[in-house]
Amino acid sequence: MKATAVANANIAFVKYWGDADLALHLPVNPSISMNLDSLSTVTTVAFLDGPGADRVIVDGAPANPATHRRVTAHLDRVRALAGTKVRARVVSRSDFPTGAGLASSASAFAALTLAAAAALGLELPEGTLSALARLGSGSACRSIPPGFVEWVTGESHGASCGRSIAPPEHWPLRDCIAIVSATHKTVGSREGHARAPSSPLHRARVEGAAGRVAACRGAILARDLATLGSAMEADTVMMHAVARTSRPPICYWTPGSLHVIRAILAWRAAGVPVYYTVDAGPNVHCLCDEADAASVVQRMEKLPGVQQVRVARPGGGARLVPEHLA
Ligand code: PMV
Repeated sequence: MKATAVANANIAFVKYWGDADLALHLPVNPSISMNLDSLSTVTTVAFLDGPGADRVIVDGAPANPATHRRVTAHLDRVRALAGTKVRARVVSRSDFPTGAGLASSASAFAALTLAAAAALGLELPEGTLSALARLGSGSACRSIPPGFVEWVTGESHGASCGRSIAPPEHWPLRDCIAIVSATHKTVGSREGHARAPSSPLHRARVEGAAGRVAACRGAILARDLATLGSAMEADTVMMHAVARTSRPPICYWTPGSLHVIRAILAWRAAGVPVYYTVDAGPNVHCLCDEADAASVVQRMEKLPGVQQVRVARPGGGARLVPEHLA
């Protein structure tokens, strides 16, 4: 009745931003991403005899009430599948700042889903696990399969899940992440999804998303960084334009984010192939070839507002591990 899983965060090249079905997290557009090997969450779930309240420890402290409710609601979905009401003890640890646009909810809900299912003896196929993880946090469905992952919108719960289009070893890309703030974002992505339709730019973003996903998929398969990078940057700017023009508006970027973005554009103009993307937070992900990563990191560390640079490679899928956290 105890299992531990590890899952990586992922960075979306084409973003999920807005729901066709808010409760089921069925997205309005397809998305595509890469798992990040060095940004992970480890979660141990133990089910204890009898009903009662769940205990949830996140990064060494009891979860705040909102997180506790979200975790319990997710455990309820897994318990319902197993036909049980036993209470759980959850201990979870992420090795990167959570809630700052580094997709911590993706790795957290992917690890929670796999650990809870395994602890209850459920052997679910990858697509089923991915769809289940999506109910906890949309982008978590892309952290279940390995490597480069596409999330097809799907019109029903079971059909809306992530599928791997290439394994991590397919392309040794590097994601150099400029951390310009490690504090919690003020408007969570759930609220962002809900506000998206209020933007006059929402429809245009959604209409072009499938084309950008196709461009990214082709570029990944061909290992073509220039095509991937330009589709990714276009999608990033559109997602943030929708957020900025939502009612009420949301601005995730800080002056530090802009310093990095402007530097990337200048370095590229000077011949360094590096491209940026930003999730629902201020930190900037910079994609480049393995051979350019060291010099990109060195340059990034000198920029104003950059507190730290983390480097990630393409990561694997969610997996069970033998060592438990508690
Ligand atoms: O999974 P959520 O609800 O936290 O939404 C993720 C939103 C973005 O990170 C901005 C985009 C994405 O597709 O990961």
